[in-house]
Amino acid sequence: MTLCSSCSSGSSSTRSWIVHGIVVGGAIAAAIGAGAYLFRYRKFRSQVVGIIPARYASSRFEGKPLVNILGKPMIQRTWERAKLATTLDHIVVATDDEKIAECCRGFGADVVMTSESCRNGTERCNEALQKLDKKYDVVVNIQGDEPLIEPEIIDGIVKSLQAAPDAVFSTAVTSLKPEDAFDPNRVKCVVDNQGYAIYFSRGLIPYNKSGKVNPQFPYLLHLGIQSYDAKFLKIYPELQPTPLQLEEDLEQLKVLENGYKMKVIKVDHEAHGVDIPEDVEKIETLMREQNLS
Ligand SMILES: *[C@@H]1O[C@H](CO)[C@@H](O)[C@H](O)[C@H]1NC(C)=O
Ligand SMILES: *[C@@H]1O[C@H](CO)[C@@H](O)[C@H](O)[C@H]1NC(C)=O
Repeated sequence: MTLCSSCSSGSSSTRSWIVHGIVVGGAIAAAIGAGAYLFRYRKFRSQVVGIIPARYASSRFEGKPLVNILGKPMIQRTWERAKLATTLDHIVVATDDEKIAECCRGFGADVVMTSESCRNGTERCNEALQKLDKKYDVVVNIQGDEPLIEPEIIDGIVKSLQAAPDAVFSTAVTSLKPEDAFDPNRVKCVVDNQGYAIYFSRGLIPYNKSGKVNPQFPYLLHLGIQSYDAKFLKIYPELQPTPLQLEEDLEQLKVLENGYKMKVIKVDHEAHGVDIPEDVEKIETLMREQNLS
């Protein structure tokens, strides 16, 4: 009886221990899991660098990054805007030119010297990334010719890439003005219902059966700013040109043609790129009107 009772109590306590053990074990496993999850979540693409590629020689506008816009070099204006972004751990100017480097160091920017052989901004970003001591997960390519870039757009594309592990690239679009519909220099974009890019074109997409602009359709204009997963940036310049890329002369198409996913965010933004010397006056007028200094 005693034995039996002790036996039964023993077995019940054993059982309760086992149950308890499973609960505790489960809780520990859950805690480890959550910890690992949070750790991973916090870690995922957390280190972000903004790179402003700047070259002196330009076919259309020699010395463009240093052009004076209401009293400050254009590159300084871009850098000051980028500084206001909250998602960037570090910002560097990547240039092959000593004058640009000296100017940037003068207003407090970090500079990475890149070789003259870089054929475009993407290659320059990649070379700069390899030269940085710290490792980064995400690179934002901040074009130096958009001195009015909003820091919120930089933060937006970084966050969207951090939240989309299946994408290697993120970029931004804004509403297309009807008068730009058939301008081949204004690149149009169509996206799926999750905000992934389907296609970019210099032609109007989607194309209305009537051949005219549909005033009801929310057409999207691509903005130059883009961010990449750092591992993808290493292979991006080496990906062979693809047929659609070559036909449209749009670099980003080779990302899609190779089957990579690209996340697109929609923002409210008036594009004021500086491509030719005449654009400087336009942007200064606008800044005066908007009381920006
Ligand atoms: C084309 O645009 C017109 C407005 O201009 C719109 O009514 C129509 O639904 C659009 N699509 C087609 C297939 O016509
Ligand atoms: C940059 O230039 C190289 C060489 O012309 C080219 O292969 C590459 O596709 C270009 N663009 C990007 C985004 O890498």
